[in-house]
Amino acid sequence: MSRASRLLAATVVAALALGLLPASATGSLSRDDARPGAVGIGDPYWPLDGNGGIDVRHYDIADRYDFTTGRLSGTTTVTLQATADLSTFSLDLLLPVTAVTVDGVPATFAKPVAHELRVTPATPLVRGSVVDVAVTYAGDPGGLSYAGERSWVVGAGEVVTMNEPHMAPWWFAANDHPSDKATFDVTVTGPATHQVVSNGRLLGRMVAGAEATTHWRSVHPMTTYNAFFALGRYDVEQSTRGGLPSYIAVSRSLPSSQRRAGMVGLRRSDEVTAWLTGRLGRYPFESTGGLVTSLTVGFALETQTRPVYPGTPDVSLLVHELSHQWFGDSVSVQRWRDIWLNEGFASFMEAAYAEHHGGTSAQQWLRDTRNDLVGERRFWRVDLTDPGAAHVFDNAVYTRGAMALQALRHRIGDLRFWRLLRTWTRDHRYGNGSTRSFLALAERVAGRRLDRFFRVWLRAPRPPAPTRANGLR
Ligand code: ARG
Ligand code: ZN
Repeated sequence: MSRASRLLAATVVAALALGLLPASATGSLSRDDARPGAVGIGDPYWPLDGNGGIDVRHYDIADRYDFTTGRLSGTTTVTLQATADLSTFSLDLLLPVTAVTVDGVPATFAKPVAHELRVTPATPLVRGSVVDVAVTYAGDPGGLSYAGERSWVVGAGEVVTMNEPHMAPWWFAANDHPSDKATFDVTVTGPATHQVVSNGRLLGRMVAGAEATTHWRSVHPMTTYNAFFALGRYDVEQSTRGGLPSYIAVSRSLPSSQRRAGMVGLRRSDEVTAWLTGRLGRYPFESTGGLVTSLTVGFALETQTRPVYPGTPDVSLLVHELSHQWFGDSVSVQRWRDIWLNEGFASFMEAAYAEHHGGTSAQQWLRDTRNDLVGERRFWRVDLTDPGAAHVFDNAVYTRGAMALQALRHRIGDLRFWRLLRTWTRDHRYGNGSTRSFLALAERVAGRRLDRFFRVWLRAPRPPAPTRANGLR
């Protein structure tokens, strides 16, 4: 090699290392250029969540559940783009895996730890390329746990996949982190006596003998924890309001009085969705609704387009979960530390709804709540900008977050405040948001610095002083 060509080669290697040149510019990729993708996406709360080097575009999930054996089997086809030259990459899945192909070609795979599936394609993936990764798996999800969570919930005739932060690895192969959103097809096969409910729109149901296969589709990007299916016997009602379809379902495993009450509660979903649309701007999805399960799930979850409720929802819970369609589902957290952008905002909307419907004013609620909590030292010690993995669903994330928003509303005025929320939901629609970007937008819309205000409301380990600057007078 001449001196000049050695220099050129060194420059190309340096440019490649800096990610300046696509690998294809230098010819085909050898195994030496490609590197393994990281086993985590880089969220310190759960270092194994998500994976490095991949960006998922679409999940096509085809699962089958057998109530008699408790086995879930299926294939998830993950359409993903390589964001680096990859010799191997990982997906998150707890179930045992039997086969993996990449663009139809068998790949080698391993499960170095329970939560990780490591895939080695026959040829390395070139940065920028898009491939279909088909993962086939089978097992009893009931025995599986991750990060202290046992997310699989099943009863005699009903199973619902709903949990947060972690649910996907119990039923599909995922890049399980809210920063990687994708569209979904969910197809589930179960007893023909049962229905399947999932996110988005129902595309079809085919009965073959004693089994039925039901296909749902989500055309807007969704986080992995917001994907769900429910397999059980359900009363179903469908309607349309203002052009928006609604699909509500109540488990028939509930006693008949609870079944009736559940349906009465869910029927208000489209009215609440319409009220929220008036406050927050255009509803982001293709359908709305909800599902009442008979299973003991312990909490409601904002599963995209169709929240799941652990019993008859009151209107406040409907407001909370349907608010999450904007805050959490359409605008998703960038990192789990941003969780108050979901829970604080959904809780604030409960107070705003009550005020608007003849209840206590949100400002009165703020004063009362602050007075009730003023001596609770643990409550004020939670830093909402970084609560810690063990505290993502602490009361402070909900209540202090909601108080911060009402205080901001009082301080900057209704007009600017609602413009801020509508700008936030519009600018980050179908994407992600962080606390930092929300605070920057708040300052822009308010036309003044708010760093002290937010430090006091989100971070300081004590209750905010009852001042005008803190939005309390
Ligand atoms: N996001 C759910 C809600 O609206 C709460 C999820 C709580 N998860 C948990 N593992 N406790 O309120
Ligand atoms: Zn919530």
